[in-house]
Amino acid sequence: MIRNQLDYFMYLTYTENDAIATIVFSRPKALNALCTAMLTELKALLEEIQHSETIKVVILTGEGKAFIAGADIAEMKGKTESEAMDFSKLGHSVMNLIENMPQPVIGALNGFTLGGGLEVALSCSFLLASDTARFSAPEVNLGLIPGFGGSQRLVRAIGLNNARYYLYTASMFNAEEAFRMGLIQGIFPGEELMDKAREIAKLIASKGPTAIKSLAPVINSGLSDGFEKGCETEQQMFASLFNSEAQEGMDAFLEKRKPRW
Ligand code: CAA
Repeated sequence: MIRNQLDYFMYLTYTENDAIATIVFSRPKALNALCTAMLTELKALLEEIQHSETIKVVILTGEGKAFIAGADIAEMKGKTESEAMDFSKLGHSVMNLIENMPQPVIGALNGFTLGGGLEVALSCSFLLASDTARFSAPEVNLGLIPGFGGSQRLVRAIGLNNARYYLYTASMFNAEEAFRMGLIQGIFPGEELMDKAREIAKLIASKGPTAIKSLAPVINSGLSDGFEKGCETEQQMFASLFNSEAQEGMDAFLEKRKPRW
């Protein structure tokens, strides 16, 4: 069980069940706005989870009516250029960590998913949302642009012109629009969202564990280093699985039984 020091965390709540870790952003009075302390707590927790042998899937969600309503505007106000650079670097390091976790990270978007909150969502492996979720990249309303990778990941997630439209206009869009653009993979009534997220997490946890852990490095290799490098990484990972659980997976198929990973 990952824990102990979590007792000192202020802005996150954490549970672990059936190999599934659930992290809840728990600062509802400020709509879970991302302050430096929350980012730091999230980073420390994910750094521990990524080395866990027992946790197979991570779910991120928010308490109250927001997933995350963006970076903490009250904290950002008054930052100098170099302080803003430090804040952006911290945000980028946390988003990169989420994106590169060996365990898949499911974003269960329970409400407002705005600005830095949208950037957290964009770093997840895939997204489920409640029918009340609302999305936007509202930074230009504040005279800002995204600071945690949103300008890059939104383009990849919803396409160039959709991303430019929402970045330039700061318009808010709903879950159906997010689904239509391929940003989210499912929409559920709010009260069913977490059950659905856990059901999908359990499904993933039943698959070949080393294969599941191989997917993020393979996918991200192509995204960061290009198609050819991604294909090269895929070949290496594919072949290396023959030295581990793939033999059992294929035996189980041929013997018409469930695999024993
Ligand atoms: N930072 C700090 N506090 C925030 C916040 C944020 N991003 N979002 C909401 N809050 C606070 C509000 O100030 C308010 O606090 P008080 O009760 O102390 O006044 C509380 O949360 C509740 O918010 P509202 O009263 O505004 O709730 P609402 O239901 O009327 O409106 C909302 C909801 C439309 C989400 C509105 O709160 C809002 O527009 N929030 C700001 C969204 C935003 O601009 N996010 C982007 C931040 S910039 C960023 O994220 C940069 C980056 O890429 C790193």
